[in-house]
Amino acid sequence: MAIILGIESSCDETSASICIDGEIRSNSIANQIIHEKYGGVVPELASRAHQQNIIPVVQDAITAAKISKKDVNAVAFTRGPGLLGSLLVGTSFSKAFALANNIPLIEVNHMQAHILAHFIDDPKPTFPFLCLTVSGGHTQIVLVKDYFEMEIVGQTTDDAAGEAFDKTAKILNLPYPGGPLIDKYAKQGNPKAFAFPEPQIPGLDFSFSGLKTSILYFVRDKTKVDAAFIETHLADICASVQYRIVTILLAKLKKAAKLYDIKNIAIAGGVSANSGLRNLLQETAEKEGWNVFIPAFDYCTDNAAMIAIAGYYKFLKKDFVGQDIAPLARMGF
Ligand code: KG4
Ligand code: ZN
Repeated sequence: MAIILGIESSCDETSASICIDGEIRSNSIANQIIHEKYGGVVPELASRAHQQNIIPVVQDAITAAKISKKDVNAVAFTRGPGLLGSLLVGTSFSKAFALANNIPLIEVNHMQAHILAHFIDDPKPTFPFLCLTVSGGHTQIVLVKDYFEMEIVGQTTDDAAGEAFDKTAKILNLPYPGGPLIDKYAKQGNPKAFAFPEPQIPGLDFSFSGLKTSILYFVRDKTKVDAAFIETHLADICASVQYRIVTILLAKLKKAAKLYDIKNIAIAGGVSANSGLRNLLQETAEKEGWNVFIPAFDYCTDNAAMIAIAGYYKFLKKDFVGQDIAPLARMGF
């Protein structure tokens, strides 16, 4: 039996999960609301909150899985990419846990883990597949050849898709993180109410900073003549912005699918929780004959279940690391 404890602490969620023989038995998450009033994650506050949360969150995950900490066979942790201070908390805890219990330590790449979240529930994708990974810090199209054999074939040249949502929310005076709120208001709005430009970026890469600027100028000009413009048009603005972000993402995904001649298409990361993206992906799939894989909501945003499942597949290969391991703010595949 393989019992893996997964630890995630790369940004503002402290999470622990227990995976038994490839099955997720618990996934405890402590969200940090402290950042809301600052309009974004404050790294120093995030590390301190991780320090306060990590032991109770791990205890909760172990209790919920109905095991004892002595039963754990290996501990898998997010090594990067992410906020260094936050990563240090999870890494140090994991090293100490492994040392105290005399069990192996497994490093996990957070962006690979978002993709491997597809191996938690059925149906699981078959290799090779393409995954659009969209989060607060990354936007990537990844060619997934095997569990740990992945190639980034397209990525953002500036802002991430999640950032485009969050920065738009800020312009609209909505609290952080704004992505879920834009999604909520967009449901009542007309996606064609306002037209925002589609950036002309070659190949499979993305750019979202121009879109952010055009939204900023649009709102500035409209509120000059009508101070209540945001309040009276919130749903239409949200729907139109969301429509543009989602169509940019889908256009590149379609291009990648043609280029690599792959019909197994997945989405992952926080923005994959977006209902506009999920709906347009389903629509596109019907037209293009794709098999699509959409993660459960719990496994879209940051969570330790994806770290535990990635750890499980590394455990099978005995892919362990030593106590000298250090976290990495930037980490490639
Ligand atoms: O993967 P994630 O939890 O953390 C990172 O690794 O960055 O992604 C967080 C991002 C944030 O930008 C958040 O606004 C966005 O995912 N997000 C959404 C939705 N839920 C989360 N964006 C749009 N619609 C949503 N429903
Ligand atoms: Zn993430």
